[in-house]
Amino acid sequence: MGFMRWDFVVLVLVLLILSVAAEFCYGGRTSSFVRTANLSLDMPVDSDVFLVPPGYNAPQQVHITQGDHVGKGVLVSWVTPDEPGSNTVIYWAENNTTLKKQADGIVLTYNYFNYTSGYIHHCTIKGLEFDTKYYYEVGIGNTTRQFWFVTPPEVGPDVPYTFGLIGDLGQTYDSNRTLTHYELNPAKGKTMLFVGDLSYADDYPFHDNTRWDTWGRFTERNAAYQPWIWTAGNHELDFDPDIGESIPFKPYENRYHVPYEASYSTSPFWYSIKRASAYIIVMSSYSAYGKYTPQYKWLLNEFPKVNRTETPWLIVLMHSPLYNSYVNHYMEGETMRVMYESWFVEYKVDVVFAGHVHAYERSERVSNVAYNIVNGLCTPINDYSAPVYITIGDGGNFEGLATEMTEPQPSYSAYREASFGHGILDIKNRTHAYFSWHRNQDGFAVEADSVWLLNRYWNSLEESSVAAL
Ligand SMILES: [Fe+2]
Repeated sequence: MGFMRWDFVVLVLVLLILSVAAEFCYGGRTSSFVRTANLSLDMPVDSDVFLVPPGYNAPQQVHITQGDHVGKGVLVSWVTPDEPGSNTVIYWAENNTTLKKQADGIVLTYNYFNYTSGYIHHCTIKGLEFDTKYYYEVGIGNTTRQFWFVTPPEVGPDVPYTFGLIGDLGQTYDSNRTLTHYELNPAKGKTMLFVGDLSYADDYPFHDNTRWDTWGRFTERNAAYQPWIWTAGNHELDFDPDIGESIPFKPYENRYHVPYEASYSTSPFWYSIKRASAYIIVMSSYSAYGKYTPQYKWLLNEFPKVNRTETPWLIVLMHSPLYNSYVNHYMEGETMRVMYESWFVEYKVDVVFAGHVHAYERSERVSNVAYNIVNGLCTPINDYSAPVYITIGDGGNFEGLATEMTEPQPSYSAYREASFGHGILDIKNRTHAYFSWHRNQDGFAVEADSVWLLNRYWNSLEESSVAAL
């Protein structure tokens, strides 16, 4: 009997040591997946994915995003090429086809160097029912086109919801693969969280803005049917004083409207929305964010507003990652990390998604907020109040993959791989969400990496420790 007790004690000790080891001596994983080194080419402008819809002045580049703060609004945008046409959207619920309503929007154009845009329409539909399928029609008067969307369930703490994640998409054959895989993924993402760098038009001579048009037509097949939540990346800046273009974000700001005023933001580059059980804060890596700046002041007020009893999942989107162990764009997010990481920890952000680095990387829950210039404490440490940082800038643009990594892999980096792909964030309830990453080389349903995320507000430290084993 005494022997059995000692055996038991030893077993418990071993388990304890293993659990401590799992918590504090983890080793990151660098995938050895073999991929082609060839750069991906942009799809030619006559590709079928860029087809101009038939009919005089037919609306094209149709895309939607959330149109208010809670999900009862949808902001519809489209371009008419020949004349302004109508700014009206006609819409009706699937379950009430006889009651057709209409909303009226605005139309605008912009010039960029030697390019003049088509007529860009933006129309916000408000007062929709939650969890309802709606059809909508644009192009009233000439050629009309019809699409549909499904509104999210009412905001609440245990509402399951599935988000897609794509960044740095571009318009190559790989971009098309990424989007197709996302569309075919049986997890069925309902809303796209897009972490910046859309068309890469700025990589063309004089920022050829016709490539903004082709990108709009390419993504319409998805973005007209589910909201894409936009984050501004560096390829949205289109800042080129040498050709007389010194207004940052001009094409992006004209083409991709967002509901920033609904969250009392003064700029479309930083804003927030609630959707189902998630509170999503979008930050701008390329707008001023130092102390006293408009973005800083907005964020200062924004984080305390988040009610985790209503929206348990606090998600931050930005373009330039705060934790990045690739050589490409190394440390570019460092100044923003210094400014805001302590808030992410204080307000228990669940996950921060970023793009920019053309690869995938997932961090452990770590923070690095102790450093104060003189104390030398500059190593990330385990922190159960810290977010998981996920870089998902692997949409497939023609700049190619970021294959060079810093060595050795830092201990905070849980998994990294330079392959194109997309992510799925599947929120189950207030405590559990499942994140998966799907590389393009595999079948769309294959998970190359995945992790259960335990909500930072609703899970105690002890539960987190157990889950991490
Ligand atoms: Fe970028």
